Amino acid sequence: MIDQPGFVSEILFNTKTNHLNRYPYNLYVLKNLKSLALDDKVTFIVGENGTGKSTLIEAIAIAYGFNAEGGSININFSTRFSSSDLYKSIQIKKTLNRPKDGYFLRAESFFNVATNIEELDAIPATAKK
Ligand SMILES: Nc1ncnc2c1ncn2[C@@H]1O[C@H](COP(=O)(O)OP(=O)(O)OP(=O)(O)O)[C@@H](O)[C@H]1O
Ligand SMILES: [Mg+2]
Repeated sequence: MIDQPGFVSEILFNTKTNHLNRYPYNLYVLKNLKSLALDDKVTFIVGENGTGKSTLIEAIAIAYGFNAEGGSININFSTRFSSSDLYKSIQIKKTLNRPKDGYFLRAESFFNVATNIEELDAIPATAKK
């Protein structure tokens, strides 16, 4: 296998056709953000409260295929929680490495994820033994 570390090499933002005067497109962080090159091991996104970190990470996670409220890549549910549509303007450049699994750990809505898992666990398995 090619020695290409990491799973995502770059994230491309194409927000120019969207409404720049409304959330999330009016966030300062998006003004000149065209591309975000990721480190091969870990990437930290830091900034003052309310600068758009959660908005950015949520959109990247949805664009990758995760549930907006968090959980593993196989989790798919929706409560009254609503996400922004920023994910529609995002393109993710993946490397040749394919992860076996993934997890979007999101503190804001982790209660919803745990509740969903609990509900799924309560459903009797239908598979034949
Ligand atoms: N659904 C929404 N509608 C309108 N504005 C929103 C919405 N969600 C967040 N905002 C605003 O967008 C800005 C960025 O919010 P966001 O939660 O992404 O920031 P953050 O960097 O994660 O903040 P914190 O450090 O507090 O977690 C804030 O000013 C917030 O009030
Ligand atoms: Mg946040």
